[in-house]
Amino acid sequence: MTDHSNPYLPYIATVDDTWLETVGDRCVRSFKVTLDDNSARESWSHQPGQCAMVGLLGVGESMFCISCSPTEGKFLRFSVMRAGKVTQALHQLEAGDKLTVRGPYGNSFPMEEWKGKKILTIGGGIGQAPLRPIVEYVKANISDYAGLTMIYGARTSNDLCFKGEFEEMSRCDDLSCHLTIDVEEEGWQHNVGFVPQRLLDLNPSPENTIAITCGPPIMIRFVLENLKKLGFADEQIYTTLENRMKCGFGKCGRCNAGHLYVCKDGPVFTYAVLKNVPEAFA
Ligand SMILES: Cc1cc2nc3c(=O)[nH]c(=O)nc-3n(C[C@H](O)[C@H](O)[C@H](O)COP(=O)(O)OP(=O)(O)OC[C@H]3O[C@@H](n4cnc5c(N)ncnc54)[C@H](O)[C@@H]3O)c2cc1C
Ligand code: FES
Repeated sequence: MTDHSNPYLPYIATVDDTWLETVGDRCVRSFKVTLDDNSARESWSHQPGQCAMVGLLGVGESMFCISCSPTEGKFLRFSVMRAGKVTQALHQLEAGDKLTVRGPYGNSFPMEEWKGKKILTIGGGIGQAPLRPIVEYVKANISDYAGLTMIYGARTSNDLCFKGEFEEMSRCDDLSCHLTIDVEEEGWQHNVGFVPQRLLDLNPSPENTIAITCGPPIMIRFVLENLKKLGFADEQIYTTLENRMKCGFGKCGRCNAGHLYVCKDGPVFTYAVLKNVPEAFA
């Protein structure tokens, strides 16, 4: 019998499928994962924005956002950039291999509170991973929202994650997807330029809109500046922080940004909260 009350408890899980999202030194690999224990699988519930600690016996564990929406089914998905020891070992896994998962941790995007609003996601590179669950959640509940606009950019077309999923978005009137890459490429049929500039060019109205941005710190800085220029209030702007974590639920003090515990108070924050925490953007 699994003790679901113990937040430290790692569940054994199986990799159902894995595929490369991007190529290169710091490539991103996605994993579709199922918890082995029936009762753990049935009682697991996460919301867009939450994360989980993923581990490999004898190697270590690292925190990742859960890059699927609960509306997609009884599985989890992680999209992992190859960085160091744990992520390199995760990239070696194949379908059928085992790993451990504990969580879900942290707060989530307030999808209920946002009902009736327009959702604007602004992502860069691997920063699309925490935004993807929002996109999938809104797609599955489209009548509850006043539409979704997604702006997503990366250095090159090879650095864009989840590429296969963008085509179907262009077939739905309430969804719009705007892709951009930093420099011109042969065959590229979308925008060329940086994400913050694409945001300004598209000029979305702040009226009844929530903007969520995730990506490299430099991109977030200019996106925030441009959202302010467009008239977005601090309370209409959300982001997630990824400070290094150990325990994942407010015990070890590893993840602080000023007075905030990113694992417990976040990882989702409004700009209204973060603008008073200089360490958040350090
Ligand atoms: C809430 C949260 C959500 C995250 N979501 C994702 C995700 O969806 N996909 C993903 O690829 N990564 C995500 N990360 C980052 C991920 O946890 C780290 O990349 C991972 O821990 C690196 O582990 P490693 O052992 O392979 O690398 P290490 O050997 O520990 O480090 C390799 C390099 O990565 C840097 N690094 C490690 N952790 C972080 C971090 N948290 N922030 C910035 N740099 C770091 C180190 O400084 C070093 O330069 C998330 C982190 C947090 C806290
Ligand atoms: S990771 Fe331990 S307190 Fe946040």
